Amino acid sequence: MTTDPLPGMFQLTPLNPDYRDDPHAVLDDLRARCPVHRDEASGSFILTRYNDVRPLVSDRSLWRDPIRAEQAAVMSRRFVDDLETETNRGETTSILMLDNPDHERIRQPLAQALYARVAKFRPEVERIVDEALEAIDASQPFDLMSEFCVPVPVDAIASILGVDRDRLGDFRDWSEGVIQGLNPFRNDEQTARMEAAGPALSAYFTETIAARRAQPRDDLISDMVRLQAEGAPLSDIEVQINLTALLIGGNLTTTDLIGNGVRLLLKNPAELAKLRADPGIINAVVEEILRYEPPVDITGRIASEDIEVGGCPVKASQSMTFSLRAANRDPEVFDDPHRFDVSRKHKPHMAFGGGAHICIGAPLARLEASVALVKLFERFPNLAFADPDAAPVWRTLPFFRGLERLELRA
Ligand code: HEM
Repeated sequence: MTTDPLPGMFQLTPLNPDYRDDPHAVLDDLRARCPVHRDEASGSFILTRYNDVRPLVSDRSLWRDPIRAEQAAVMSRRFVDDLETETNRGETTSILMLDNPDHERIRQPLAQALYARVAKFRPEVERIVDEALEAIDASQPFDLMSEFCVPVPVDAIASILGVDRDRLGDFRDWSEGVIQGLNPFRNDEQTARMEAAGPALSAYFTETIAARRAQPRDDLISDMVRLQAEGAPLSDIEVQINLTALLIGGNLTTTDLIGNGVRLLLKNPAELAKLRADPGIINAVVEEILRYEPPVDITGRIASEDIEVGGCPVKASQSMTFSLRAANRDPEVFDDPHRFDVSRKHKPHMAFGGGAHICIGAPLARLEASVALVKLFERFPNLAFADPDAAPVWRTLPFFRGLERLELRA
């Protein structure tokens, strides 16, 4: 075991080339040496052990809202600059960072409407996937990310929201811009993209909410307006912020689930052969992809009182960051954790977090990934890496793991 200094939060992002190339070497070492690691630079405890993370992520007495974090929790506090006097947090942030009672008040109707839509959404996902596959020119090598993995989730959420086809291009651009809101280390250019996308999207939702109120359609925006009319205590701004959160939370992550999945299956032909032999195992395949290469690295909570975690004292208002990636490969829970095995029986992964904040989009992400992977491998029986020796090109957005490009040939 090394005696090198323990990594800080910044080193646990793809901005660190060692972490980008092999995050698990870094995380295994951290878990072994210091599973509850106080990182002063970010002002947070970094937790890497499954058996610490699982109960904490599910603990509804902990806080999520970064405004409740101590001032020393600089990474969390970056999300609440200039908001010290804020009273209605629901009108400034999405459910991702809200605590009760606002969290439940807003999440409940949103989840009700979203889950009902996802439950009947399979035929539309199949249509979107077919259309994307149809558009791929496979006569020469192509980039699966830009041709398939990026457009499918954006088009799916656009369809759920009822975005007209002629606005799809704008919608894709805004969606890319707003994701920078989750990047605490964003540079000036990324901040500018985020700042341009936010108001444009907000104007779009303001206009569309008014239009759907006047004339409802069969879409999620109309559902939310109807729930408001039926008494759900939600303001238009809250609806807007949380519909935007579906884009922020849902697009890149699902893109990466599909992209990471294709790469893993091509790298592990025996596992791909199992899927080809029986597409009925697709749900198990998707769960193993989520465990092995989760698109989201971390989530977090704030201690609401003094607690002890793995023998370490954590004081009220101190921030805890959970490495979902490290938890998913913890050898105490998963046999041979670094083996990608779609037949694995026990895989209670943490890719979607847990408890009150468990990913609201998980059913949609699973649906999209399962349809996309089955159809992709059916359509291209000889799908292969364009250059089998090329190193993967990972994106550098902190706390997300996905490919910049995935060059394939059919
Ligand atoms: C593979 C794809 C996805 C992954 C890996 C993922 C991961 C996560 C994680 C880790 C959290 C935090 C959970 C916690 O703190 O316990 C979360 C929350 C959230 N996700 Fe996802 N997500 C995915 C897809 C989606 C999709 C498709 C949507 C929208 C349609 C979405 C919307 C959200 C929202 C709104 C939250 C905040 C929920 C809350 O705080 O109550 N996500 N997601």
